[in-house]
Amino acid sequence: MINIVLFGPPGSGKGTQAKKLIEKYNLIHLSTGDILRNEIAHGTVLGEKAKAFIDAGELVPDDDIKAMVLKKFDEHKDSNGFIFDGFPRTCDQARFLRHELTDRDLRINIMITLNVPKEEIIGRLLKRAEIEGRPDDTKSIIEKRIEIYQNQAVAISGFYERMQKYVPIDGVGTVDEIFQRICNAVDATI
Ligand code: C5P
Ligand code: MG
Repeated sequence: MINIVLFGPPGSGKGTQAKKLIEKYNLIHLSTGDILRNEIAHGTVLGEKAKAFIDAGELVPDDDIKAMVLKKFDEHKDSNGFIFDGFPRTCDQARFLRHELTDRDLRINIMITLNVPKEEIIGRLLKRAEIEGRPDDTKSIIEKRIEIYQNQAVAISGFYERMQKYVPIDGVGTVDEIFQRICNAVDATI
């Protein structure tokens, strides 16, 4: 199995790059943000609960996120591996992921952080708002999400740095240029 954690601020291109990575390496895209948006679209109990947090740009409680991840794990037991996109967001989630993988005799190959300057991500997200109409892509909520990201980033990066899995990547350039940088880093782990 190849397991990749894709980390970076909102608008850094995690979703875009994850789509290319799942094709190239035949992986399952485990995007906690996409799962939550899907729950909201279907009006589930979890969706109702998550909506308030997401609309405010805040994080959904760890226990709800962990349950979602376990469910997805169980649905794809025999896959070639996962891209974790937007997860883990907290140290509790990072420890949980390590624990669950270890239990299954699996591991994280690499944690990639896409680095993009704040001005550029705000521009990208405002453009995405016009195309996708995500309610959390407004100027004030974007600021809040970036702030939460920055608060968590040091701890999460440190967690993977200590495991010698942390690889920062320049997230500015064309989609293909960034993809090539990521593939070079992933290929060095397999
Ligand atoms: O990952 P993405 O940017 O799509 O997430 C959108 C929102 O979903 C986040 O701003 C947050 O409110 C929520 N989320 C979360 N915990 C995660 C992933 C997403 O609370 N692990
Ligand atoms: Mg995303």
